Amino acid sequence: MAIDLKILHPELAVEVSGIDLRKPLEADVLAELKSTLARYPVLVFHDQKLSDNEHAAFTRCFGSIDAGLTLASKRKQRLKNTDVIDLANIDGDGKVLDAANARNVSLLANQLWHSDSSFKSPRAQYSVLCGVDLPGEGGDTEFADQRAAYDALSQAMKVRIEPLVAEHSAFHSRGLLGGADFTPEGMAALPPVDWPIVNTIPESGRKSLFIGVHTREIRGMATAEARLLLLDLLEHATQRDFVFRHVWHNDDVVMWDNRCTLHRGRPYDLSKLRELRRCTTEYIAA
Ligand code: OGA
Ligand code: MN
Repeated sequence: MAIDLKILHPELAVEVSGIDLRKPLEADVLAELKSTLARYPVLVFHDQKLSDNEHAAFTRCFGSIDAGLTLASKRKQRLKNTDVIDLANIDGDGKVLDAANARNVSLLANQLWHSDSSFKSPRAQYSVLCGVDLPGEGGDTEFADQRAAYDALSQAMKVRIEPLVAEHSAFHSRGLLGGADFTPEGMAALPPVDWPIVNTIPESGRKSLFIGVHTREIRGMATAEARLLLLDLLEHATQRDFVFRHVWHNDDVVMWDNRCTLHRGRPYDLSKLRELRRCTTEYIAA
């Protein structure tokens, strides 16, 4: 085996060592990472100081790059490599953003359970998040296993949700937090999309829930009934047994499968710098 694995959560997360993510990936190592992801959808790597180009090159081994919300944001790009999504809570001069700043609201929406780019078509497959400069205390990231959550539903609930399709919108979470920095043109560029609530992961054949804060309607259901069902499913899907929490150190890289996990950031002191960068691949179902 070319890489070493240490189990961090019995079904959800492993630490991967014996690999340098700055170097081009050998085909056998890539295959091993993919098969590891099929079993453990969260991978943790330590001490990987990646340039933006190395970060994007590693991510591209897994698929074409998803630009996330960059299209809709008014913010000027701070990073040269547009494949890399800037998650630093700073403005153009490097000053930490005020908590009330609209850009910060958008970042804070990452503290709500979600799957990256579930509001787009194609949606996301893998995300690769690099911890550049972390605040030291708080600001952990949690992941919830949506295959385990699906398996633990009652048979009646499995039957009820099997045919359901949910509408996902990028702006629902921002609305919940009081609004953010999107232009009408930006919002028009990202109309809501529909995804089935139950998803099968081709690599493992396992069924998984596909919900989170971007869901705001269920097709053919009254809004109130749909939102209550979505909230109940989310509560079920994020029980502690299904959750792994990553405590960041600078130069950690965490990679996950957005098709079968939800994730969220945890609170931190908003006056402190927190800088992460993310690259994400698109999921194009066969
Ligand atoms: C993300 C995200 C959570 C965090 O990068 O997609 O949701 O803890 N991050 O910053
Ligand atoms: Mn995210």
